[in-house]
Amino acid sequence: MDTTSNDPHGTGAVLVTGASSGIGLATAQLLRTRGHLVFAGVRSEEQADALRTIDPELRPLRLEVRDDASRFAAMERLADELDGRPFVGLVNNAGIAVQGPLETVSLDDLRRQFEVNLFGLAGLVQLALPHLRASSRAGHRAGVVNIGSVGGRLPIPFNGPYNASKFALAAYSDCLRQELRPWNVRVSLVEPGTTRTAIWTKIEQSLTSVEGTSDGLYDAMLARYGDSVRRLQAGGIDPLRVAEVVHRALSARRPAHRTLVGDARLMATLTWVPTALRDVLLGRGLGLPRAGSLLRSNP
Ligand SMILES: NC(=O)c1ccc[n+]([C@@H]2O[C@H](COP(=O)([O-])OP(=O)(O)OC[C@H]3O[C@@H](n4cnc5c(N)ncnc54)[C@H](OP(=O)(O)O)[C@@H]3O)[C@@H](O)[C@H]2O)c1
Repeated sequence: MDTTSNDPHGTGAVLVTGASSGIGLATAQLLRTRGHLVFAGVRSEEQADALRTIDPELRPLRLEVRDDASRFAAMERLADELDGRPFVGLVNNAGIAVQGPLETVSLDDLRRQFEVNLFGLAGLVQLALPHLRASSRAGHRAGVVNIGSVGGRLPIPFNGPYNASKFALAAYSDCLRQELRPWNVRVSLVEPGTTRTAIWTKIEQSLTSVEGTSDGLYDAMLARYGDSVRRLQAGGIDPLRVAEVVHRALSARRPAHRTLVGDARLMATLTWVPTALRDVLLGRGLGLPRAGSLLRSNP
């Protein structure tokens, strides 16, 4: 694959959202070492200081993706600090994973899930596009890289809010890519599987907070699901592997539209199985009760 950049200014400026930890931090660091000017989105001054300590050449940028004013201010500041460099990449990485039964998850939590993983991201794309289009016009490779998930292909019970947001992001990315083709503004979706990051601790916390909120209906299933989550995360890959895929998406002459990373490749094969069979296999894998088996139980 040709990974040569035609960028006369080096490799241009990029913005990575959610760069305080995990995949975002690994991506910001890797892109910086590969020559990009990296604006690293963080939500607090403490996180900005921490980033400056890790790598003084990163440019921390305060950004709460759910907040219109914050997105606007961040893009304004970024544009002011480009110093003539082209803006060549928006890496939409910030994400959360709301957990719990769809019967009882609060609509506020469901909205929060979509505000971070989709609506905030979409708002940022709208602000970034004039800059990316201008860079593309000037002959640079410019584009958007969205961090999706294998969860955007394979739905798992009790991971419903997250799955729904990542499925939506996959559709959003596919449409955006087709709409931006006329300007050669590239759009890639990177779909990691299990990756060793703080999101797993947050998932466990999220599960703890939903325990006992469903009148006992789902408690036993949630406990089994929690066990599976703990087992799964033990085999996670280094976030740097995802960062490498993001770098490829930004720099390749013809970037892949969708790239599964790590165990996502194996997990995604389950989507080839007919839905009825897949439900049974996933239910067995998670140790969930068989169809109809709770009809005569209390509650
Ligand atoms: N880890 C995995 O196994 C895995 C697998 C597939 C896909 N992914 C995806 O990878 C992306 C990064 O997740 P990660 O695993 O690296 O988890 P992480 O370590 O928890 O990082 C999430 C990042 O998103 C930021 N963030 C959360 N809400 C935000 C908001 N409202 N505004 C701005 N930033 C916000 C967090 O900032 P704070 O520190 O301030 O909260 C943090 O920097 C997510 O989109 C996730 O869905 C992860």
